[in-house]
Amino acid sequence: MTLNTLKATEAAPLLLDWYDRHHRDLPWRVSPPMAARGAVADPYHVWLSEVMLQQTTVQAVKAYFDKFLGLWPTVEDLAAADTEDVMKAWAGLGYYARARNLKKCAEAVAREHGGRFPDTEEGLKSLPGVGDYTAAAIAAIAFNRQSAVLDGNVERVMSRLHAIETPLPAAKPEMRRLVSELTPSDRPGDFAQAMMDLGATICTPKRPACSLCPFRANCRALTVADPETFPRKTARKERPLRLGAAFVAIDRSDAVYLRKRADSGLLGGMTEVPGTDWTARRDGETSIEARPFAAVWEACGTVTHVFTHFELRLSVYRAEVTHAVATSDGWWEPIASLRAQALPSVMKKAITQAIPHAFKAV
Ligand code: ADE
Repeated sequence: MTLNTLKATEAAPLLLDWYDRHHRDLPWRVSPPMAARGAVADPYHVWLSEVMLQQTTVQAVKAYFDKFLGLWPTVEDLAAADTEDVMKAWAGLGYYARARNLKKCAEAVAREHGGRFPDTEEGLKSLPGVGDYTAAAIAAIAFNRQSAVLDGNVERVMSRLHAIETPLPAAKPEMRRLVSELTPSDRPGDFAQAMMDLGATICTPKRPACSLCPFRANCRALTVADPETFPRKTARKERPLRLGAAFVAIDRSDAVYLRKRADSGLLGGMTEVPGTDWTARRDGETSIEARPFAAVWEACGTVTHVFTHFELRLSVYRAEVTHAVATSDGWWEPIASLRAQALPSVMKKAITQAIPHAFKAV
């Protein structure tokens, strides 16, 4: 049988049987034995984990997930939280618009839906920050809807199963149709999670463990080519380089001068050290000339950070400030409490470049 003829009635049992034996135990997940005893995943947990998982790995999400549930055990608690506190708890996960939407979504669920997440894909999509993927994942995992869930892992599995030659992202509609055909009406949530686990642990980007795969007898990529060469991709455009400067001032009581970024735009509302705009120009405005106030500024190297659409190279300057400076747009934060600030990773790098021990435990 070729995989093109593999139907949900054949694919789903193969995959679910594998999942029953090899699923990953994750804090937001109801494991198959628990599900068989009638346990269902909490939509709040599923939503929170899915939003976080769009930012980073399963391993890294675990700690953030635990921290959020410790601070805000229910969606109503998160809705009532201070936005600054949510931003601080999110710091390090990146893409801060998601944190802002997280709070807005919790407010919508608490105020407009009586604290209960809508239980359909359409209803979920009406919530702030919930797109096609997240709505499908919550509908399947928390409400057992037969939704087709397509993330990066699932795309890789589908591209190999069917040896899809169309590169991503053009192949997405075809992949969605194929996943939809395979998704069973029984245990659709486990099916979605099994596809993700398969992609994360067996059908990996490099050196997939094909001999352990439940689809090994049906995988077209395995018969026609090297599975590792799927999914096909169009050549990626190189990220443009932007330059900037960051100024780390330390006062006599070991406090660092910080300020808040504008609410809109990249890293909106997050905390930063003073700095220049980040520009593609190289004509001086990213240099020490742009210092926020007069002091003995000393160059201490550069840090780089990769954003989605550009790579940033920041020249870092440091000054020990012995006299009072105007602090109209910012504040002095003791080094010991820097970790509690909503500092994005790029700012942590810049501060560490100037003060190597800044984020080390005391
Ligand atoms: N990646 C994103 N969502 C996931 C989930 N629910 N299970 C496993 N991996 C995931």
